[in-house]
Amino acid sequence: SKGCKLVGCGSAVPALEISNDELSQIVDTSDEWISVRTGIRRRRVLSGKDNLTTLAVEAARKALEMAKVDSDDLDLILLCTSTPEDLFGSAPQISKQLGCKTNPLSYDITAACSGFVLGLISAACHIRGGGFNNVLVIGADALSRYVDWTDRGTCILFGDAAGAVLVQGCNSEEDGLLGFDLHSDGNGQRHLNAGIRENESDNALDSNGSVFGFPPKPSSYSCIQMNGKEVFRFAVRCVPQSIESALQKAGLPASCIDWLLLHQANQRIIDAVATRLELPSERVISNLANYGNTSAASIPLALDEAVRSGKVKAGQTIATAGFGAGLTWGSAIVRW
Ligand code: ACO
Repeated sequence: SKGCKLVGCGSAVPALEISNDELSQIVDTSDEWISVRTGIRRRRVLSGKDNLTTLAVEAARKALEMAKVDSDDLDLILLCTSTPEDLFGSAPQISKQLGCKTNPLSYDITAACSGFVLGLISAACHIRGGGFNNVLVIGADALSRYVDWTDRGTCILFGDAAGAVLVQGCNSEEDGLLGFDLHSDGNGQRHLNAGIRENESDNALDSNGSVFGFPPKPSSYSCIQMNGKEVFRFAVRCVPQSIESALQKAGLPASCIDWLLLHQANQRIIDAVATRLELPSERVISNLANYGNTSAASIPLALDEAVRSGKVKAGQTIATAGFGAGLTWGSAIVRW
């Protein structure tokens, strides 16, 4: 069967940086509390002319440049996001703004902080079974738009960013996707969600609450609701299991992992997973101090920094895992 390899990466973050001290001016918190509990020190937030699509396009251009692939040679663009500019999806706009003359198939994938891992596996499936060759996988999110900036339990965690990876078909000897494992469980949705506003979803009922009402009012989404402790427990339990299962499918022991690259949600989650897998901290990639939790963008953003700084070298094995709302989680063992 056909192989697929990762041939380029890129990332982009908004210009506006907000430090923990600046946050402590709008909610009752402190730099010490945030850094000790999460490892986060600053985050970037969309402002001015930046938007999710422009960030995604910038990350995509850099990935194409590294891969030395022309945008006209793209066959597929997967935009992994929960915060598109358009409810119907923003991926076709990315193709347009990249100037792709060939109009590659472009669509959005929604799976919160697991979106990028899901996108990577979807890209591989399209390459292996669908006749696609050059697939751009973009993880981009702007959770700042859905954060309640008066809720200190959530607003300290998130930042905005985009990251991209170009996945290319190759022969099976060069295959760079060695194993994967994906899950979802709707039972955990109550612990982490940004649902449609209830009063508005009820608006099909009339004032008596019984008769069908028409026409309905336009809807909107509520801010992110989270039970941090439950999400923490879920991540620390499910992520090591998932990585172990992906390793098993790849036929590799954990000692083969050169780099552990988890979704960047909380340093304590990253440390706990590394301990469970018996991986020393020197093999763990982390940049959440500078960007916070950037949802679907966090893995390709951290990968891009690690590749460009020379940390991750060609031929090395990376264990990556995403986890978050849905609940969704999954992991992939990839060779860079
Ligand atoms: N500043 C100061 N105090 C705070 C803050 C804050 N920003 N937030 C909460 N506190 C207080 C609480 O009120 C509580 O006070 P109390 O003891 O008087 O009641 C105390 O600190 C402890 O609060 P906890 O919520 O129990 O703190 P915890 O140690 O669990 O840390 C945190 C909270 C950081 C949110 C942690 O639970 C966590 O990171 N969980 C995982 C969250 C996560 O990764 N979510 C994203 C998933 S990705 C996606 O799909 C969107």
